[in-house]
Amino acid sequence: MFDHVGWGKKNRLRKIVQQEDNRVLMLAIDHGYFMGPTHGMEKPRVAIHELLPHIDSLMLSPGILKTDVDPDQDLAFVLRASGGNSVLDPDIDDEELILSAKEAVRLNASAIAISVYIGTEHQHQTLLTLAEAINEAAEYDLPVLGVTAVGKKLKDKKEKRYLALASRIVAEYGADIVKTYYCDGFSEVVAKCPVPIVIAGGPKLETYEDVLNLTYKALQEGAVGVDMGRNIWQSEHPAAILQGVKAIVHGGASVAEALELVGTLANASTARQEEFEVTQEDIEISSLH
Ligand code: 5RP
Repeated sequence: MFDHVGWGKKNRLRKIVQQEDNRVLMLAIDHGYFMGPTHGMEKPRVAIHELLPHIDSLMLSPGILKTDVDPDQDLAFVLRASGGNSVLDPDIDDEELILSAKEAVRLNASAIAISVYIGTEHQHQTLLTLAEAINEAAEYDLPVLGVTAVGKKLKDKKEKRYLALASRIVAEYGADIVKTYYCDGFSEVVAKCPVPIVIAGGPKLETYEDVLNLTYKALQEGAVGVDMGRNIWQSEHPAAILQGVKAIVHGGASVAEALELVGTLANASTARQEEFEVTQEDIEISSLH
């Protein structure tokens, strides 16, 4: 894997895609860049404290890296580099570049993440932003994670034809890894995309079994791993479900084995403390994409 890339990029990519099994366990906490203090991630330093020992890489915004992560962490960081939108916009697809490759390298990023919104009003702009980011990142051998994002209007367009189109376009522009959603027929999305794919978790699912099933099926059908957020840190027992996901991604566990592990780890000591009042509006806002 990654035989076609230069030494610097390969070294950075290998901090994300593990050499031993070619798998990725990335925790996504970048949601605040357009959703603000998202439910479950109101205080990032507190929310991630018990999670960092279990992951390979962390996807986050540059601001939260500087304020909430200590520099001695032995982790790969994937920095959110597109933005300019907020959840208060009619849709969330109006993004441009918010972080230079030079600043990302200064922050010791292993990659930058850029979202594209295929089929939305700002498709063209977000694709040009991806191209700009890839060209700039190339100067530093800095990998780019291309995210096939869906806006509010396309929230339900997480299906094979759309995701294959979006993933392929992102790969054609030169992204090193594509982040997309799992869907029925996902293996076809993978087969039509020439670079490795990781999946987002999407809005919080009902049960731990749902999360583990999603992970298992995505890997079985060709994903190299997960870049998951809300289904970890909005859950009742974030460190427990994260270790269940890890058992599947890196340990080759079945869903039943992972679920059993989560059951043994989910107890009062691993329960997430709700520090703030959570309204229905908070829940709805955090599940709009
Ligand atoms: C925001 C993102 C998020 O990182 C992505 O949605 C992954 O998180 P989740 O598993 O919560 O969907 O890229 O656009």
